Amino acid sequence: MFYPPVLLVGLLHITLTQEADPLAWIYRLHPMASLQADNTGGDCPTECDCPPTFPIAMYCDNRGLKQMPYIPSRMKYVYLQHNHIPTVSDDAFGNATDLVWVILHENHINTVGKKAFAKLAKLDRLYLSGNNLTEVPASLPASLRDLRLNHNKITKVLPSAFEGMENLTILLLNDNDIQDMGGALKGLKSLTLLDVSNNQLKNVPEGLPSMLHQLYLGSNAINAIPDNFLNRFSNLQYVRFSHNELTDKGIPPNIFNVSGLIELDLSFNKLERIPPVSTSLEHLYLQANQIKEFTLGSFCSVVDVMNFSKLKILRLEGNEITRSDIPSESAMCLRLASDIAL
Ligand SMILES: *[C@@H]1O[C@H](CO)[C@@H](O)[C@H](O)[C@H]1NC(C)=O
Ligand SMILES: *[C@@H]1O[C@H](CO)[C@@H](O)[C@H](O)[C@H]1NC(C)=O
Ligand SMILES: *[C@@H]1O[C@H](CO)[C@@H](O)[C@H](O)[C@H]1NC(C)=O
Ligand SMILES: *[C@@H]1O[C@H](CO)[C@@H](O)[C@H](O)[C@H]1NC(C)=O
Ligand SMILES: *[C@@H]1O[C@H](CO)[C@@H](O)[C@H](O)[C@H]1NC(C)=O
Repeated sequence: MFYPPVLLVGLLHITLTQEADPLAWIYRLHPMASLQADNTGGDCPTECDCPPTFPIAMYCDNRGLKQMPYIPSRMKYVYLQHNHIPTVSDDAFGNATDLVWVILHENHINTVGKKAFAKLAKLDRLYLSGNNLTEVPASLPASLRDLRLNHNKITKVLPSAFEGMENLTILLLNDNDIQDMGGALKGLKSLTLLDVSNNQLKNVPEGLPSMLHQLYLGSNAINAIPDNFLNRFSNLQYVRFSHNELTDKGIPPNIFNVSGLIELDLSFNKLERIPPVSTSLEHLYLQANQIKEFTLGSFCSVVDVMNFSKLKILRLEGNEITRSDIPSESAMCLRLASDIAL
């Protein structure tokens, strides 16, 4: 079967934004593709599939591989996830310098050559989640937009780790052993999603990029939030600080009373009062703290009950208040919160 180039481009564009596998549709339409030899120049390693209908992609996922296969220079997409590869050496990508996606999650990688990725000047996605990395690989290409390093054993992030990545949009570092991000996030001017949850951070990372839309810092050891911390962002909507060590003292007055936030997760901390939040907030998680008082003024200014809160979800269970602590006026202020979990 022959796919006109225009159709191919159109389908590819759709799948790029929807699923991690731009060729899933080829396998659905053309199940034999993977069994045919490639004849467009360069050999496909026998342990992989290179569909002739889309010769710039190579499928080597779930093959029990214990080393990186040879990668023909024409490749743009390589799928190597779910194998047992321990090492990515300096010459692992050989002459395949046009690579756009390198998918290597769920391997055993603990060693990466200092120059392994250096020549991949067009690299857009690099997935290294679920490996055994103890540091961020060196010389990562500045062209990256989506970098996933979650579920490794990274302890240290050098200040230069993400240098020049002006287009990086997604950075996943969750589930590692990072104690301090240092200044590594400076200059990531396109970053919209940062996940550093489940690490050992004692402080909110410095130099957080101002374009962030989602900031996930849950399950760390953070006990304080810097003054004016939220004022630097113009698009921030989701902020998660659950399972940290926040106390009232560590939260500057009115810090969360900023418009734009949709979700604020402060659950599983040590707060004793409800911090003031903006009337535009929709989801507030405060369960499992030590809150002793229900302060309606934290949601609506008392002088203007008509300026009601947009909260839809308010969770307060596992605190030191009961339903009888909620004043009747709250029905006016919290009129969209159909159920306050207590
Ligand atoms: C890369 O290309 C050069 C020059 O074309 C060639 O000599 C070399 O063998 C190639 N290396 C690999 C790993 O294919
Ligand atoms: C990671 O490395 C440790 C030793 O440092 C080893 O015991 C463990 O099996 C490795 N895990 C994987 C998934 O490779
Ligand atoms: C970022 O993206 C722009 C627009 O696509 C491009 O011109 C620029 O070279 C990219 N920057 C890097 C460091 O790749
Ligand atoms: C409602 O209160 C918020 C602050 O909580 C304020 O920014 C906004 O301007 C007020 N809206 C009206 C209509 O008064
Ligand atoms: C939030 O800040 C606005 C001013 O921007 C103020 O009018 C409002 O009372 C504050 N809300 C709370 C709950 O303190």
